[in-house]
Amino acid sequence: MLIIPYPIRMKKLFMIVVLINSINVYSQKFTNLALTSPMGWNSWNKFACNINEKIVREAADAMVASGMKDVGYRYIIIDDCWQDKRDSLGFIHPESARFPSGMKALADYIHSKGLKFGIYSDAGYHTCGGRIASRGHEFQDAITYAKWGVDYLKYDWCESDNLNGKGAYTTIRDALYAAGRPIVLGMCEWGQNSPWRWASNVGHLWRTTGDITNCFDCRVNHGSWNSWGVMKIIDSQDSLRKYAGPDHWNDPDMLEVGNGMSLNEDRAHFSIWCMSAAPLIAGNDLSKMSKETHNILTNQEVIAIDQDSLGIQGLRQRKDSLEIWYKPLKNGDWALCFLNRATKPTTFDYDWKKQMINDDVAKMELRFDKSHYTIRDLWAKRDIGLTDKILKVSLAGRDVLMVRLLKSAANK
Ligand code: GLA
Repeated sequence: MLIIPYPIRMKKLFMIVVLINSINVYSQKFTNLALTSPMGWNSWNKFACNINEKIVREAADAMVASGMKDVGYRYIIIDDCWQDKRDSLGFIHPESARFPSGMKALADYIHSKGLKFGIYSDAGYHTCGGRIASRGHEFQDAITYAKWGVDYLKYDWCESDNLNGKGAYTTIRDALYAAGRPIVLGMCEWGQNSPWRWASNVGHLWRTTGDITNCFDCRVNHGSWNSWGVMKIIDSQDSLRKYAGPDHWNDPDMLEVGNGMSLNEDRAHFSIWCMSAAPLIAGNDLSKMSKETHNILTNQEVIAIDQDSLGIQGLRQRKDSLEIWYKPLKNGDWALCFLNRATKPTTFDYDWKKQMINDDVAKMELRFDKSHYTIRDLWAKRDIGLTDKILKVSLAGRDVLMVRLLKSAANK
């Protein structure tokens, strides 16, 4: 038997403890980067692979000039197709014809406007657009992003056939942490590995579905995959609400507001994303948006529902084509959203006294027999009465009435 002298055994033990501790130190997510759902702009929904430095700079300029920055939008995110090749040492470079100033200069420009810079990669060898991705280069890419001044990484899931989801996303999380720059990690594996069950200490947000498309209630078949309209996405989210919260959000994909749906549909889409505490990542051309699109994207009272610090994803009740959404808010207020999914208009009476909502996720109750609330219409931007009287609701097709119930004002 080999007898190890006592001091050597102690030294060994010490080394093991140091090793375990160092693993823990590098196996973390940067916390508190997304205490409310991230807000910003991403190039994909409008520009797909047709992006360049000019488009990105114009988006940053427009985010400031349009007042979007003032109401909370921060991230300017370049999605797929910026990548060119790796150099002989393995470092990734952007396509120089499209990004002649380079990513560091672009990041500096975005930062100089008081905004934050986001970029995209993928856990496989290639991205969904067929560009070089991060597999085998995770730590090296994280160092590159940190050097460029990246603040947000969207990390996709194409060519992931032999990858373990939890393993792949934990690797990039650890790589970002080791690189030392706080970077929001947006996981984009389309809900395939049920990230809501395991990723609250891995990413700050995770996609829960396949890609959105700019229609209200359709499915588009692309052969090997489908993209989904607003209602199709929303219909798959109910069971997930208990997993969302500050710093770890369900992400039903980026906004299609301003990309071709009708005004009512855009308003309904934005309202439901806000009732869901979803990330608000605009996907339209910010430099050319209509007044109507601008009014939707910058409605501060609606955004405040999304950004409420409790971070509760709203509860949905559905009866045929009518939905009512409930979202408890920080100071005892509630947000409600009546949604007409049908194309025809509808009217009905809503008798508050007959309602009682028990939210077993938020552990909160909403009832109207003991207290009244002031009803604030968040799109009309005016108070429309108290909850002591029946509310006559009138909804256009595919439209919403979104209200905030103000407790404090009514019970003074
Ligand atoms: C996937 C993602 C999209 C977008 C494209 C880019 O489909 O889900 O959001 O990033 O890849 O190729």
